[in-house]
Amino acid sequence: MGFILAAMGSAVGLGNIWRFSYLCYKNGGGAFLIPYAIAMVVVGIPLMVLELGLGHKMRGSAPMSFAKVNRHWEWCGWWAVTCAMFGIMLYYSAVIAWCVNYVFFSINLSWGADTKAFFFQQFLQISDGPLQIGDIRAPILLSLMTVWGVCWMIVFFGVQKGLERANKIFMPLLFCLIAILVVWSLNLKGAMEGIRVYLSPDFSQLSRPQIWIDAFSQIFFSLSLAFGIMVTYASYLPRKADIVQDAVVISIGDCLFSVIAGFAVFGTLGYMAQALGKPVSEVVTQSIGLAFVTYPEAISNMPAFSKAFGVIFFSALVLAGLTSGISLVEAFSAAIIDKFHFSRKTVVSVVCLTGFLGSIIFTAKSGLFWVDILDHFITNYGLVIIGILECILVGWVLGARHLREHVNHAGGIVMTRFWDISVRVIAPAVLGILLFNSLHNEFRAPYEGYPWVSIILIGRDWVVGALIVALFMAMYPWKRALESEEGSGLHNKS
Ligand code: PHE
Repeated sequence: MGFILAAMGSAVGLGNIWRFSYLCYKNGGGAFLIPYAIAMVVVGIPLMVLELGLGHKMRGSAPMSFAKVNRHWEWCGWWAVTCAMFGIMLYYSAVIAWCVNYVFFSINLSWGADTKAFFFQQFLQISDGPLQIGDIRAPILLSLMTVWGVCWMIVFFGVQKGLERANKIFMPLLFCLIAILVVWSLNLKGAMEGIRVYLSPDFSQLSRPQIWIDAFSQIFFSLSLAFGIMVTYASYLPRKADIVQDAVVISIGDCLFSVIAGFAVFGTLGYMAQALGKPVSEVVTQSIGLAFVTYPEAISNMPAFSKAFGVIFFSALVLAGLTSGISLVEAFSAAIIDKFHFSRKTVVSVVCLTGFLGSIIFTAKSGLFWVDILDHFITNYGLVIIGILECILVGWVLGARHLREHVNHAGGIVMTRFWDISVRVIAPAVLGILLFNSLHNEFRAPYEGYPWVSIILIGRDWVVGALIVALFMAMYPWKRALESEEGSGLHNKS
């Protein structure tokens, strides 16, 4: 149970609350659920089984598990966990920090009437572009420190006393908060119109390639795949764990959470549209705008207890973010512990301190641009390329059948030969298409119209930098010789 909650904690994150509902709306409402469900069955669950199975079989973090399959592939594991920790976590922690600030802003609705001006001008004090870095915003820095402090404390105490315990508290709490938001927003006037817009299917959209691309990339990001996180978490499972069943529960749970959270988002948007006398389509905005501009406006317009609604909404975002954040820190820390055998407490402290220092750049006035660029590159390139490599490693180098026999051991739900095909062919092909599509768009025009130099320095070089770090890490000798694949894990739980 602790494991399932922890893995769900990693999967359920900021992406489930704001990204999913927006994608759904953009891609033909309820019709989006079709490619989404297909993406989940065809690649989501198979890759979840792959990651959990690999970690469980090899009993180690990503670099160790990859190295046990083949020494020459260790770098790929390092690349995954470095992108997770020094890519995603750095900006993810900054966004969680914004949410922390917004919990407090909710208490007296400090954003006032113009939520857009408040967010961009007053709160972020956004600069003119990614290269105009500007000063550090003290209020954001303060919450950032808190976010890192909490992550540090949880991972510091180890897998059982820290991660498992935190997830056992945070996840049920998160479910309760979302349940309250859903019930509350569905009872608002106009909510049903929002739900209608959210779910009414426009099947003609299914012929657009973009809807499929969005569905597949959302599945990878939402299930926290390709960053070595699930590999690490599964390495702590007891021998007789039922990997396939766990993978199915985690994947379906994550998707259900997204769909349910969508009701809260669109119920509220429906209410707001009605209050402002506008159609719902005019009040829907994208990800960051949805959470920090549109939602605050909706909250201010609530008929009763609006402050409480705000506190609950932003606390839910903070909780969802934190449980994903600790998984990112753990994936990297476990890798260092495995390789160098330093004590967990030292590793986690150094990693968190470095992470905190690194993420300060995202609290500068250009922070939002940096978040945007880095997120785009890590999810469109880092994630996709590592995903392809992972499929090749397990599908072809290790042999998909080999791992399938391992995961089917528990005997409950079993993976059929279709799994082999998915891992060897379908998943890498889908990821290849995503990669091709991103590259194609990349060269056509600079992402979001940012100056090329910022895209290259912040985006491309970050991913390449992580690769260089990974290659160095892999060159280092192991403190203790790698055991055979079935050997007991090296990294300890405490
Ligand atoms: N799955 C998280 C979300 O949906 C994001 C995430 C990706 C977290 C990768 C950890 C690793 O927001």
